[in-house]
Amino acid sequence: MRPRHAPWEEAAEFRIGLRAIAPEDWFEGGEDDPAARKDPLLEAHAHDVWAETEGSRPAQAELLGLVGEALGAPVPADRRPPLLAAARAVADDLCLMEKRDGVWRLTALSLSAGSFFSAGEVIGKSLAELHLPVTGFGETLLKRVNRIFDGLRDDLVLERRNWSVVSSPDLFIPDPAPMRAAIPTIDAARAADELRVRVERQTLRRLPRTGAVVFTIRVWIDPLSAIAADPARLALFARAWRTATPEFRAYKRLELYDELMARVIDGA
Ligand code: HEM
Repeated sequence: MRPRHAPWEEAAEFRIGLRAIAPEDWFEGGEDDPAARKDPLLEAHAHDVWAETEGSRPAQAELLGLVGEALGAPVPADRRPPLLAAARAVADDLCLMEKRDGVWRLTALSLSAGSFFSAGEVIGKSLAELHLPVTGFGETLLKRVNRIFDGLRDDLVLERRNWSVVSSPDLFIPDPAPMRAAIPTIDAARAADELRVRVERQTLRRLPRTGAVVFTIRVWIDPLSAIAADPARLALFARAWRTATPEFRAYKRLELYDELMARVIDGA
């Protein structure tokens, strides 16, 4: 089956790339029981997958209400922190951003599919601090992103997608080191099945009562073979691979996959 999202067909550089979507498309669904996946992670890796700051409960509660509305039935909190209860009802990860002393900060999050970061590491950080590892973010994107957060209208839901390549089907990879260490052991003949495109589909939405902003992250992982089956689609992927900016390639460590990728793209 071909991947649901193909953002590499649009860009191979860091960009904001937000577009408005219908509020009813806020969540994509497609996972029967997200709690069955998320609960064991919380049990075993609480620090990686859950964090909240003092004072975030009112916005968490508003988010829980909105998620209930979106799903068509209230989601019970059952004595859990409201954001955690909301996150158990959807496949997406949920991040709450609130303006504190004039700065947008991450005040609570449930993170079950973090790409190489953990909840404990990022809680409380500002948009600038969160994006320090992203080359050039402070110079090129930060001002615009802050302006977007400040100007969000209540009736607007915005979506963006990013992409990368990984060599694991796992959604939960707080630390990429073990995955990367195993790349040299991959059988080149199986590269199209072992290498995977990893897409994050993210949304932004303002909570009208508290003025907080919800940032959702849904991760989709597909083997490259899902693209390689169609020559036209493979050609579009190959173009993205070859034209990706140096910053984009370095940040995503794409060089680790160059040799294997050549097998898929060129049949080398
Ligand atoms: C309009 C809003 C945003 C834009 C345009 C944006 C953009 C980006 C970009 C370009 C990257 C590099 C990876 C990629 O997407 O290709 C990135 C990484 C990241 N973003 Fe954002 N971002 C936004 C909002 C947020 C929010 C609200 C959070 C809060 C959780 C966040 C947390 C992160 C983190 C943790 C990373 C990974 C940084 C690392 O490598 O350690 N972003 N973002």
